[in-house]
Amino acid sequence: MAHVYLSRELTPGAMAAARALDLPVVVHDDLHRPPSREQLLDAVRGAAALITLLTDRVDAELLDAAGPQLRIVANCAVGFDNVDLGAAAARGVAVTNTPGVLDEATADVAFGLVLAASRRLVEADRLVRSGADWVWGPQLLVGLDVSAGATLGIVGLGRVGTAVARRAAAFGMRILATGSRASGDEARALGVEPAELPRLLAESDVVTLHCPLTPETHHLIGAAELTAMKPTAILVNTARGPVVDEAALVDALRTRGIAGAGLDVYEHEPRVHPGLRELDNVVLLPHVASAGRATRDAMGRLAVANVRAVLGGEPPLTPVGR
Ligand code: GLV
Repeated sequence: MAHVYLSRELTPGAMAAARALDLPVVVHDDLHRPPSREQLLDAVRGAAALITLLTDRVDAELLDAAGPQLRIVANCAVGFDNVDLGAAAARGVAVTNTPGVLDEATADVAFGLVLAASRRLVEADRLVRSGADWVWGPQLLVGLDVSAGATLGIVGLGRVGTAVARRAAAFGMRILATGSRASGDEARALGVEPAELPRLLAESDVVTLHCPLTPETHHLIGAAELTAMKPTAILVNTARGPVVDEAALVDALRTRGIAGAGLDVYEHEPRVHPGLRELDNVVLLPHVASAGRATRDAMGRLAVANVRAVLGGEPPLTPVGR
């Protein structure tokens, strides 16, 4: 009998929904580590549905290993750059993601990184923890004033970018944005000015990335773009690591070409460029932007709901593809 394969255990609510499906459920048995490629190729054999994570590469080899009865790959993430959509379409396999349910959680962390990197909060925490002598001083850990009319540049104003814009508007920031929604009604109401990337980079005090990873956005921010930013500027990335040329970012941070960065994602995740770990002017998070309890539950339940729909002969709820 075909099964539903989950490459990691999800929240209890999502697991209960998965176990209520009509097919048996097989779950990778390590909560903290993804299956190895060999484990994955082996475990998907004969599956009718896969619930995958961004740590799983879903390509022609994996789809063929599953077999012709495979109907759906439900990626439990809004990003789907780990899935070869062409290979799935060629085999008649639906692909879904989890849009909409993680916008606020991701925007919270993106804005948290804006504040942490601008006001040097993690550096300040490290100073206190170090036990070093410190006393209030007019020059101690001075950073960028976010709320004093600083300009936020949002690269890729989609759902998450718009949620970030709402937070920025509440902080009184001037907002520039690229992306199709930058001239939409909500953006206009928030005071967003549509801008091409060169102007956005030149005028922003903080640049935050919210575009998907595609061949067009790979290394969208490289040495030239970092040079185009103000030397006082901050870069925040909660999108995907390869949108930024990480080696160029290390250079820019080291030489103070830009003032700082806040990163949740990395070019060769989970590896982090060793140069980043040595620098004080970057805040480093382990890809946790959507890691709110309710958000992770909603993501898991939506992935399972997509599987239920497709196995029941209905259209997927949140398809991606071409
Ligand atoms: C997380 O990075 C996601 O794409 O959901």
